[in-house]
Amino acid sequence: MKVLSVSFENYRNLHDGGLQADETTNIICGLNAQGKTNLLECLWLFTGNRSFRGAKDQELVSMGNPDRDCVLTLSFESGGREQQSSLRVTGGRRKAEKNGVMLKSAGELTGAFCAVLFSPDHLSLVKDGPSFRRGFLDTALGQIRPTYGKLMAQYSRTLQQRGALLKDIPHHNDLRDLLDVWDERVVRLGGRILFERARYTAALQKQASPIYEGISSGKETLGISYKTALCDHPQSLTQVQWEQCFYEKLRQAQGEDIQTGNTSVGPHRDDLELTINGLSARSFGSQGQQRSVVLALKLGEANVLAQSIGEEPVILLDDVLSELDASRQEYLLNHLKGRQVFFTCCDPAGIQLLRKGKVFFMEDGCLKEGEES
Ligand SMILES: Nc1ncnc2c1ncn2[C@@H]1O[C@H](COP(=O)(O)OP(=O)(O)OP(=O)(O)O)[C@@H](O)[C@H]1O
Ligand SMILES: [Mg+2]
Repeated sequence: MKVLSVSFENYRNLHDGGLQADETTNIICGLNAQGKTNLLECLWLFTGNRSFRGAKDQELVSMGNPDRDCVLTLSFESGGREQQSSLRVTGGRRKAEKNGVMLKSAGELTGAFCAVLFSPDHLSLVKDGPSFRRGFLDTALGQIRPTYGKLMAQYSRTLQQRGALLKDIPHHNDLRDLLDVWDERVVRLGGRILFERARYTAALQKQASPIYEGISSGKETLGISYKTALCDHPQSLTQVQWEQCFYEKLRQAQGEDIQTGNTSVGPHRDDLELTINGLSARSFGSQGQQRSVVLALKLGEANVLAQSIGEEPVILLDDVLSELDASRQEYLLNHLKGRQVFFTCCDPAGIQLLRKGKVFFMEDGCLKEGEES
């Protein structure tokens, strides 16, 4: 998978224009607040996901010209042929086309163009609560199985409907019978999510652990496991077994759920446990160790994705070089051979490591191709 070119109109602070990408390394260099992350975000949007900055669609439109559409176009190579996707933000909503055909939603772009992104915000994956780690699993799975996003949306909707019913039951006891119907739906959808997440976690552990060992020069071991209150050994369950576990626990929790009006067990409560040498990375990891864990997770994600789709995803690394010491930078660059990478950096010193590829300079939203210095 390779970006060939990208163009943007009326997008964030970027001046209308674009870039012809190098098939190996692309470095976007510039001072703070010039538009480097905006450019990576533009590439990321073609994965069919929403902005990694949690932005609303309208926020993508240039503030200076809010009534004009924002139009992004990507030309990329995938499956041995050149393809085109485009995104238009109009009336506050994203619309997408793939190879000239209008899609029902921008989410349908998922699976056509695949990328793995590291941004400094991803340190939340280690530092913050379980919802970030669930989000990581769900985004990663969404690129491997394009129907996974729909499954998640159906699960959330069903959970909301079960929640509304739980809140009504204390006032209308006859509604209790209806709960069985919703429980079965929640379990059917949730069982699939649990199965996919646990299987993905096992694949990720296999890929990310050796990478972490490499980053830490063989001194430390990274553990990754799916953590759920539903069962003790989540690695080896079939989808039917997941449904059975979930159903059992959901029934046990029914009384409590009616009291609180919330569903207390299920994939929406689970977590990804990350350990360094057997100790929680969140509670005991140093800054550098936590950073390395996130990098190993992201590079592991890229490997699992490559195995699954049969092509290397594009790697987007926002501000990663400045955070790593020389040996870690070297490891990272060696590890990325054979893949197309987009780096952003503030410090032109990062460019010294670049032996092959293109350098772009971003200044006040204006992108220029530069000479290697
Ligand atoms: N919709 C928008 N319209 C106009 N400007 C915007 C819009 N959205 C964001 N910006 C501006 O874009 C600027 C550049 O943001 P960006 O995050 O890409 O900078 P950066 O080059 O990555 O900086 P840093 O090195 O600090 O990470 C910000 O100052 C922000 O205010
Ligand atoms: Mg930035």
